[in-house]
Amino acid sequence: GISPAVHLVEVGPRDGLQNEAVSVSVTERVALIESLADAGLTEIEAGAFVSPTWVPQMANTDRVLAALAPRPGVRTPVLVPNKKGLDAALDAANLTDIAVFAAASETFSRRNINCSIDDSLTRLAEVAREARARGLRVRGYVSCVLGCPYEGAVPAGAVVRVAEALWAMGCAEISLGDTIGVGTPGQAVALVETVAASLPREALAAHFHDTYGQALANLLAVLERGVRTVDSSVAGLGGCPYATGASGNVATEDVVYMLEGLGVATGVDLDALCRAGETIGAVLGRPLPSRVGRARAGR
Ligand code: HMG
Ligand code: MG
Repeated sequence: GISPAVHLVEVGPRDGLQNEAVSVSVTERVALIESLADAGLTEIEAGAFVSPTWVPQMANTDRVLAALAPRPGVRTPVLVPNKKGLDAALDAANLTDIAVFAAASETFSRRNINCSIDDSLTRLAEVAREARARGLRVRGYVSCVLGCPYEGAVPAGAVVRVAEALWAMGCAEISLGDTIGVGTPGQAVALVETVAASLPREALAAHFHDTYGQALANLLAVLERGVRTVDSSVAGLGGCPYATGASGNVATEDVVYMLEGLGVATGVDLDALCRAGETIGAVLGRPLPSRVGRARAGR
C-alpha cells in the first residue's frame, strides 16, 4: 500500500530551470526557492555545481545558496559531477547536501558528462567519500532508467548495476530517473521490483519526467509498491539539456493534489505552491504545464 506520508523532493530550481531558454537571475532563483519552502516543501534542489559552459542556467549556484535564509528542517541539495564541483560546493555558504548523478546508458553518460559510466562511478565514489567525511548527506541519481534518447530501451540490469554502485559508495537514497519520460506503469513497477531485489525499497525515489504524459500514472504505480520519495518540479518546469525533446518533471502541484486526494500527507500548502508556480511562469514568460496550476489559475 501507499505510505501514509510521502516525502517530496522539489527539483524545479535545478532540473526545471537548467533547461529553460530564459536565463533566470540569482535573485529570481532565490525567490523561487524561498517561495517553495514557504509552501511547505522541505527538500528543494537549489542548483548545480556543473560547468557553466555546459549548463549556463546553473551558473552562480554558490550565490544562490549564499542568499538563502537557512531554515531548520529544510534541505537544499545541489548537483555535483566531480571533484571540482565538490570543492566549489564546499566553499559555498549554506551547503546542506549534495547529489551525484550517473546514467544507465553509456551514450547518455558520454553526452551528459563527457565520460563512460565506469569512469563516472570511479569519480563519484571519490566525491561521495569526501562529502560524507565532511558530514554531508549524498543523494544518487540514475538517469535513463526507462529509456535513453540515443540507445532506446535500457536493460534493467544496467540500472541495477549503477544503482548498486551508488549505494555502495554511501548514497543515502537512489533516485530513479525516467529522464525522457517514456516509461509506462508496468515498466516502472517492474523496474522498482528489480532494483528493490538488491536495494532497500525505502531508499528509492521516483524521478519521472512527463514527456509522454505518463508520469503521474507511473508514480501512483510505484507508490503502491512502497516507494515513498517523489521528485517533482513546481509547475512542471524544465526538461534536460542533454535529452532533446524531453519535457519537464511531473508537476509538484499535480503530485500534491493526487496525494492529498488519496489521504496521504505532504505538508504542502497547495495554494501557496500554485502561487509559486504562477510567479515563475511569469518570470519565464510562458504558460507552464501543471494541470492543477492551470485549473487553479483558471487558464
Ligand atoms: P569536461 O569538459 O569533460 O570536464 O566536463 P573537464 O574536467 O575536462 O574540464 C573542462 C572545463 O570545465 C575546465 O575549464 C574545467 O575547469 C571546467 P577550462 O579549463 O576549460 O576553463 N569544469 C568545471 N567548471 C565548473 N564546475 C565543475 C567543473 N568541472 C570541470 N564541476 C563536466 C565534465 C561533468 C564538468 C561537464 O560535462 C558538465 O558540467 N556536465 C553537466 C551535465 C549536467 O549538468 N547535466 C544536467 C544534470 S543531470 C540531469 O538532469 C538528470 C537528472 O535530472 C536525473 C534524470 O532526469 O535522469 C539528475
Ligand atoms: Mg531530471
